[in-house]
Amino acid sequence: MRGTSFMTQRSSMNKAPAIEAPSIKAIVFDAYGTLYDVQSVESVTDAAFPGYGAFITQVWRLKQLEYTWLRSMMGKYEDFWTITKDALAFTIETLGFRAEAALFEKIAEAYNTLAPYPDAEAALRSLSSYHLAILSNGSPPMLRTLVRNSGFESLIKTVISVDAKKVFKPDPRAYTLVEEETGFTPENVLFVSSNGFDISGARSFGFHVARIERVTRAALRAELTDAERIGSARMFKALRTQAEHLGFPPDFVVNSLGDLPALVSRGFALPR
Ligand code: 2OP
Repeated sequence: MRGTSFMTQRSSMNKAPAIEAPSIKAIVFDAYGTLYDVQSVESVTDAAFPGYGAFITQVWRLKQLEYTWLRSMMGKYEDFWTITKDALAFTIETLGFRAEAALFEKIAEAYNTLAPYPDAEAALRSLSSYHLAILSNGSPPMLRTLVRNSGFESLIKTVISVDAKKVFKPDPRAYTLVEEETGFTPENVLFVSSNGFDISGARSFGFHVARIERVTRAALRAELTDAERIGSARMFKALRTQAEHLGFPPDFVVNSLGDLPALVSRGFALPR
């Protein structure tokens, strides 16, 4: 049986009454990828760079999350809006494209008008007897705009941004905000996410966790039988071989290890 402790316990209650159902009082949702569809930016990315919308959408999201983890580990927090724009700059630059300031802002803004998943509103309405909250990496202005634009303001009681702790999920400090902001302790919280790292982080922290499995293993396997035009090796190169947008650029850039002796012999005077 797949699923979380809560689902598993519920669905097996008839067979296994020995397991006590948890006392859930608050349901806390992840935002990006769980309530809101990050893939919905593709109409904007593709309009800006026709034919490259899918690639930009994927690299942008992957880099955005990567930067949250890197900045948390580096101890160099920047809020999620800055990270979202840095990840977009990385992606556009990696493709060798340029976006003028107005176009760049327009693409970045797509993260503030993400489409909610079609099942989100009905689910929130039917769970309204619980204290419903969001705990997200999003900055407070991003989350305010997103919740307002989707019309979920009256459905979600508490919107919590990790910004108060200046660290991103899955750092445990981020999850402590749920109790600080709602008063509910982890044993009374069901955390809902479709992001693997967030599911692990929330479960490790002590919440009950429900995973939204938007892509089943079988569905993914069926898709993987088709080779894609931009293959995995190119995706790897795009993600792992280009200069990052995290600040802290290197002092020297050379093309091979063989260039290092020349750099040394020039007294480290290689132009940047
Ligand atoms: C969120 O914090 C993990 O991006 C996801 O909303």
